[in-house]
Amino acid sequence: MRTKLLQMLIENEGQFVSGEKLSKHLGCSRTAVWKHIEELRKAGYELEAAPRRGYRITKKPNAITADEISVHLNTETIGQEIQYYETVTSTQEIAHRLAQDGAREGTVVVADEQTGGKGRLGRVWHSPIGTSISMSLILRPSIPPQQAPQLTLLAAVSVVRGIQAATGIECEIKWPNDILLDGKKVVGILTELQSEPDRVHSVIIGIGINVNHRKEQFPSEIREIATSLGIEKGEEIARADVIRSVFEEFETLYQRYLNEGFKPIKQLWESHAISLGKQIKASTVQNVLYGVATGITDDGVLLLEDEEGTVHKIYSADIELNVTKA
Ligand code: BTN
Repeated sequence: MRTKLLQMLIENEGQFVSGEKLSKHLGCSRTAVWKHIEELRKAGYELEAAPRRGYRITKKPNAITADEISVHLNTETIGQEIQYYETVTSTQEIAHRLAQDGAREGTVVVADEQTGGKGRLGRVWHSPIGTSISMSLILRPSIPPQQAPQLTLLAAVSVVRGIQAATGIECEIKWPNDILLDGKKVVGILTELQSEPDRVHSVIIGIGINVNHRKEQFPSEIREIATSLGIEKGEEIARADVIRSVFEEFETLYQRYLNEGFKPIKQLWESHAISLGKQIKASTVQNVLYGVATGITDDGVLLLEDEEGTVHKIYSADIELNVTKA
């Protein structure tokens, strides 16, 4: 009901919508409409009420509640079920639980704040309240586990394209899934699986986007290597718009992936990648390799050619760009 009310007020943004029209549209009394208006006010919306003219929104909060995301969301599966939390330890944890309990494909857990956000390689991910996007998406593709990295690359492309569509900002991808802006990290993606040796039950794709962080909000150890969309744009960015765009891009690409396989996604990924053709240092769990990143395989594995001409397959590593062996 609140989503419908919000939808109507947002569609008529700037104009009054009469109480009568709202009550007819929602199929409830005008007193019930008034109660929902009060709830919206409590949620941070500024609404003007004028006798005989009705209600209009004068200011929207920069909220990422399910209501705020669902208004105008143009997808069939991705984000059609949203579980929103103000504060969680990690959206990954909740999504894992939901997936185990049978949540349907496209379900997303979104939080305004994470107190124990998980990064890749056991690192911590900072998601301060009100400024970041932290979300975990549940997928149920019929693929073997070794193909799951392809979905990480698909997610990276979706996020780059979603950010571009919502804000006009062009980001770049550093293999496998770091998204950089001005050479600094602006998005992190963490893919986790629930699977058997030959079959994936669910893929949980965690996406963390630094949206409106000011520089001093980053912990000192990452202040020089991290940035936010707002810092780049020089203005506050509506987080729900970014989430919606990412969902829409994700759905389009995921459908393509299911119908046509990884090839078209790989091409798009390559068009946004900055690592390819560059001299890199790859720190894996076993060793450190130097060489040129020559491409990715059809499984999304990075190919590194060292100075002897040997090509190494990199499955998981930390990549530093433009670094040569000392
Ligand atoms: C990285 O290290 O680059 C990956 C960071 C992934 C962070 C996101 S935020 C939403 C989801 N929940 C988590 O705890 N982690 C992921």
